Amino acid sequence: MDYYKANEKRYDDMIYRRCGRSGIRLPAISLGLWHNFGSVDVFSHFIQIIHTAFDNGITHFDLANNYGPAYGSAEENFGRILEKGLGRYRDELIISTKAGYDMWPGPYGNWGSRKYLMASLDQSLKRMGLDYVDIFYSHRPDPQTPIEETMGALADIVRQGKALYAGISNYDDTQAEAALAALKEHKVKCLIHQPKYSMFERWAEPKLLPLLAGEGVGVIAFSPLAQGLLTNRYLHGIPEDSRAARPTGFLQANQVTEEVIAKVRKLNDVALSRGQTLAEMALAWLLKDDRVTSVLIGASSAEQLKDNLKALRNLDFTPDELNAIDAILK
Ligand SMILES: NC(=O)c1ccc[n+]([C@@H]2O[C@H](COP(=O)([O-])OP(=O)(O)OC[C@H]3O[C@@H](n4cnc5c(N)ncnc54)[C@H](OP(=O)(O)O)[C@@H]3O)[C@@H](O)[C@H]2O)c1
Repeated sequence: MDYYKANEKRYDDMIYRRCGRSGIRLPAISLGLWHNFGSVDVFSHFIQIIHTAFDNGITHFDLANNYGPAYGSAEENFGRILEKGLGRYRDELIISTKAGYDMWPGPYGNWGSRKYLMASLDQSLKRMGLDYVDIFYSHRPDPQTPIEETMGALADIVRQGKALYAGISNYDDTQAEAALAALKEHKVKCLIHQPKYSMFERWAEPKLLPLLAGEGVGVIAFSPLAQGLLTNRYLHGIPEDSRAARPTGFLQANQVTEEVIAKVRKLNDVALSRGQTLAEMALAWLLKDDRVTSVLIGASSAEQLKDNLKALRNLDFTPDELNAIDAILK
């Protein structure tokens, strides 16, 4: 493949939203490398997805230490993509990584200790060939480690310049409140929270979103398409090349139930009546709320990504549409 040169019109159509009360604006749609970018996947295929993303104004790429499979391979592959040309745009990119789930054996390769977070970020930087990441996350709260230790490690990482900003993921409102307070003690602000949030997963709505809005912390919603359920992927069974059919996917075939698909069909009808695909509508439905800075999608092809970008053409919903969607989701 020739050395990559980005599309000159890449900033024409993307919407950028301010991330909480910070100086950073994120693209309304960001791309995650949890699935489809590991050593089990095809390099020529996924480099095309990344280039398509950046060519369309997606400046934010989200990783974690253990994305693959194999663990670490998504970061290695992203490093190779940077080396093959994307890296010359480093100052136009927001790259995030995380530590918090199992990564290496023994007591120091999981959860939220200072030891794990510091060592893991050093490994991530090596794998990606970077001097710093833009955002480093505590990937999940650790019930055994004092929050002051986990947040103290994040604050020191920011001070060392190995990450420009700190983030948290999978913290509920009580855990998030404690984390934000602990970071404040270190005079480091939490830039962003990364919760699971989609039409099918609304736990963040009652307490977490108001808390984050009040604290000026941005929100990036992960698995906004419920891993593909909120698209037309499973309307007619489970395709062979889909996440639910793959042995390495986190969506299990037994989660694709008749009950779920009955809802998906009804949502699909609402989407069609709006002139959107279901994927577009599912993303627009999250982005109608300006507390949501960005939706963090996955994609197994450049075509899916391009379809999802069309969501930005219509982020408005009539009260009737919202009521119809709520009635289906009940
Ligand atoms: N913080 C955390 O704990 C955490 C956890 C999970 C994810 N994340 C982040 O969130 C990112 C996204 O998660 P996700 O991959 O579950 O997101 P998602 O956007 O909900 O699902 C992505 C999958 O949906 C399908 N899809 C996407 N666009 C489609 C379209 N237009 N038409 C049909 N199918 C489409 C594809 O499935 P097929 O592969 O079947 O084609 C794709 O792989 C991850 O990469 C990661 O960065 C974070």
